[in-house]
Amino acid sequence: MAQAMGGKEPTKKIKAALLGAAGGIGQPLALLLKQSPHLTDLALFDIAPVVKGVAVDISHISTPSIVTGYDKEDDGLVKALTDADIVVIPAGVPRKPGMSRDDLFNINASIVRDLAQSIASTCPKAFICVISNPVNSTVPIVAEVLKKAGVFDPKRLFGVTTLDILRAQTFSAEIIGQSNASSTFNVPVIGGHSGVTILPLLSQSKPPLKGVSQEQIEALTKRIQFGGDEVVQAKAGAGSATLSMAAAGFRFVERLIDAAFNGKSGVVEDSYILLKADASGSKELLKHTDNVELDYFSVPVELGPEGVKKILPIGELSEYEQTLMKKAVEELKGNIVKGVSFVEAKL
Ligand code: NAI
Repeated sequence: MAQAMGGKEPTKKIKAALLGAAGGIGQPLALLLKQSPHLTDLALFDIAPVVKGVAVDISHISTPSIVTGYDKEDDGLVKALTDADIVVIPAGVPRKPGMSRDDLFNINASIVRDLAQSIASTCPKAFICVISNPVNSTVPIVAEVLKKAGVFDPKRLFGVTTLDILRAQTFSAEIIGQSNASSTFNVPVIGGHSGVTILPLLSQSKPPLKGVSQEQIEALTKRIQFGGDEVVQAKAGAGSATLSMAAAGFRFVERLIDAAFNGKSGVVEDSYILLKADASGSKELLKHTDNVELDYFSVPVELGPEGVKKILPIGELSEYEQTLMKKAVEELKGNIVKGVSFVEAKL
């Protein structure tokens, strides 16, 4: 079993493949993954040939993992995916000002579908972490491709919504004047990963948001839901969140490694998953959705050796959060159908 290692070599082989590794998220995420003391192999793949240079650059860092870089030449994708235990996907185009995540669907849906087909045939047992937007639809796309290939395991597929959690921590700490303590804030964010489907449960914030008015709660909720727009506008056409997303992606992968490979128990992270991954756990959600059954939702997930170990209850919602839930459910339904139908129509 691999262990935290202050200078020691990892004792178990763990390979991560990063698809879209030369991009705005891909490069800093590759850098962070190279910091992991637990990974033994890090394969970087991108259609942009510069990815090979990125791999050489990162390979000079003196941490355990062996880094390899591949573009499309010579079956690069298959080589990157061979023996991968974890596949992280930030491949695709990002938003420009005025675009919603759903506007990215036409381009990113095919990219994600094609990558999923290669995963299905090369490393079907890998844990898959989907970053490419619109996550609400790209996760169902990956699932449908794997189902068609007969290799789908819902416990191993995750939509990475961790950036919404980082934003919720940061903005909540800020509003009560405790920015320095933001990393200690625990604010669940459930639902999906796009606008009104993002549902921060501020009523469950730990520490509680004492002295914060309902008006402030509503403004804070909107800021978390549309935090990505702040970055898109500030970058003025040069892309969307990349560095904070890389940090979020790394946090998710680190926790997955801890739970799945390092035997750590009690690792909980909110993630957008197929609810059937733990049919008994997902039942509690129905009482909050007016019994509307959704296939996918971001829920608190206890991670374990097989990936999803257990879906944890989302707990009580405030009246305001219940109204947000209705809007989130309505929009998510369409996003999910869009992803599923895309694969039905195109495969
Ligand atoms: P980027 O354009 O900087 O990088 C994307 C990379 O993907 C490029 O290097 C490109 O060559 C590569 N790529 C394109 N097609 C590919 C394919 N078929 N196989 C492998 N690589 C391919 O974009 P950025 O900023 O890195 O964003 C990537 C994705 O992540 C976007 O869809 C964006 O919307 C999404 N995103 C998701 C977030 C989340 O919270 N889940 C947050 C921020 C962005």
